[in-house]
Amino acid sequence: MEKRHILVTSALPNANGAIHLGHLLEHIQTDIWVRFQRMRGHLCTYVCADDTHGTATMLKAEEAGIPAETLIEQIRSQHMQDFSDFHISHDNYYSTHSPENEALSGMIYQRLQEAGQIVKRSVNQLYDPEQELFLADRFIVGGCPNCKTDGQYGDNCEACGATYDATDLINPRSTISGATPVLKESTHLFFALSNFTDFLKQWTRSGTLHEQVANKLAEWLDAGLQDWDISRDAPYFGFEIPGEPGKYFYVWLDAPIGYMASFKNYCDRVGNTIDIKYDDYWKPDSDFEVHHFIGKDIINFHALFWPAMLEVAKLRKPTRIHVHGFATVKDQKMSKSRGLFINARQYLDHLDPEYMRYYLATKLTGTIDDMEINLDDFVQRVNSDLVGKLVNIASRCAGFINSKFDGCLSAAPSTDLVKDAAAASETIAELYEADEFGKAIREIMAIADRTNEYIDANKPWVLAKEAGKEAEVQNVCSDGINLFRILVAYLKPILPKLAENAEAFLNVEPLTWNSIGDVLTDHKINKFKPLLTRIDSDRVEQMIAAGDQAEKPPVDEAEGADPGLAHIDFDDFAKVDLRIVRIDAASHVEGADKLLQLTLDLGDEKRNVFAGIKAAYDPADLVGKLTVMVANLAPRKMKFGVSEGMVLAAGPGGKEIFLLSPDNGAAPGMKVS
Ligand code: MSP
Ligand code: ZN
Repeated sequence: MEKRHILVTSALPNANGAIHLGHLLEHIQTDIWVRFQRMRGHLCTYVCADDTHGTATMLKAEEAGIPAETLIEQIRSQHMQDFSDFHISHDNYYSTHSPENEALSGMIYQRLQEAGQIVKRSVNQLYDPEQELFLADRFIVGGCPNCKTDGQYGDNCEACGATYDATDLINPRSTISGATPVLKESTHLFFALSNFTDFLKQWTRSGTLHEQVANKLAEWLDAGLQDWDISRDAPYFGFEIPGEPGKYFYVWLDAPIGYMASFKNYCDRVGNTIDIKYDDYWKPDSDFEVHHFIGKDIINFHALFWPAMLEVAKLRKPTRIHVHGFATVKDQKMSKSRGLFINARQYLDHLDPEYMRYYLATKLTGTIDDMEINLDDFVQRVNSDLVGKLVNIASRCAGFINSKFDGCLSAAPSTDLVKDAAAASETIAELYEADEFGKAIREIMAIADRTNEYIDANKPWVLAKEAGKEAEVQNVCSDGINLFRILVAYLKPILPKLAENAEAFLNVEPLTWNSIGDVLTDHKINKFKPLLTRIDSDRVEQMIAAGDQAEKPPVDEAEGADPGLAHIDFDDFAKVDLRIVRIDAASHVEGADKLLQLTLDLGDEKRNVFAGIKAAYDPADLVGKLTVMVANLAPRKMKFGVSEGMVLAAGPGGKEIFLLSPDNGAAPGMKVS
């Protein structure tokens, strides 16, 4: 087989929140594919980066009182740690806020301009007169023009599903300052995407996309494409557009270029050690491959805007775009408390990453169908397949080989199962290649089942007690070990750590796809140590409990519904114990940007509570005043101590948070009704 040169990317996670299960699904999918290609002997390079630009980053940094550059570096180091702890084998994890990206974005923009594909147009957009900022749809709320429900974002209604322009909202407010937005005119730069409808009709059918995805795109393409607004006005955290002072590239222009920039940075760093040349990959007629892995929510950016830009810029276009569906959670346990999701760190604090790698792999197909995540199913699948079937084979056979035969395997296999298992390698390889990991696992587990049946039928534990059956015991157990070796090789892209430990136990070189057919004969193995233990459901419960305290996924600025906004019914609301309390003491918290520490008197007991109201109140003004608290909120361990409840406040934020109830006869401990 000819050696392929493959560059692979996962979508760049936004630098405004923690890595969660959705990101992990994508990076695990990509990583499995990458590790599979490497096992096949190809040169497969996997790069990624944080997607740093945009209004959301700017506001978050302002809120934290730190420069955006500091914020994104903090988040990047957390993201890198999360991914590396999940054994994601990125060769480079960079940032879109990099000199390489600025240079490449400028270069591509210049080529678009030289080709006459950049046009200027005046647009009217809602503007926050207090913050002096143009507002993206996600920063405007108001009443839905269709069903009149209040509190809806500027693009669509979560109550009735209507889509509309932010200017149609009833009583619109800026979510940043609470001010009423005004319409303001400004000149924007557009990429003339409408010129590329025919090109894209052809390109999307050229084998780069799954048919399901191409069909979805055909709906847009048949309707005809609009030009794409690629500029944003200051203030904006991003790259200023060359020759256009005060105008910045829209985050989605420089984000995909961030793939190239991360790869460029990698080549510059290691190019002379592994002979990898950036230009070989990006010239228009390159034989080398580029594969993007993305979720279905960002298909238009990758399969329309991006190839059209690359075409004009005379750069190569992607070989294939691998699109996955969404991880969804209906599981009561998870969805009730969390709105949606588990964070990477929350999981890692309690469970082995390979359990989740395996479980998600069983769910992955080459399609854009959503995948339902269920924790009971997770525990059951991992325990039954990996512990009950896979590891069981080795643990049943190794003992006899070690104790009776000094660790030595027999001279030849005594069953065709070994040959048959190795003969499945091309079928399994095709499934990996096509992102059909769930199907690959079914094939692999069928081999594990046959192996266990073979051991059950031959009962080495019975033979071992009979005289003159030594050779048979050694043969059956050696077959088991050889089959185990093949199974581990097949699962190695999914379970790299388990494979590494198994290689040490088997006393073999790192397993590759080409060596799958080799059989271990007259070979000495090492002592068996348990490779993986059963998932203890208590650990899962503990993880979920920890999730109740964790950060919710952030709202995306560009699009997409916030899955955290769900209705609660009256029974849930009635569980909230609201009490009047007197503030006995209030003080600043050393090292905290937003918190005050409050001692609250409930009449018959005192509580320690941390409240994020430092910007609004001087602690001295609070002492003696009454307020309302949630008295039955589970205590929460924070960096500065345990918070035993929550005080209620209302207002747009910053200095305007209103906390106190008037002192009109209310007494500490009274229930609020
Ligand atoms: N920053 C952009 C991508 C720019 S790529 C040039 C972005 N970031 S994101 O953090 O919102 O999402 C990153 C990836 O995670 C996307 O591919 C998205 O589809 C994926 N997922 C986010 N939530 C997901 C699930 N619940 N399930 C599966 N994948 C999901 O989009
Ligand atoms: Zn509505």
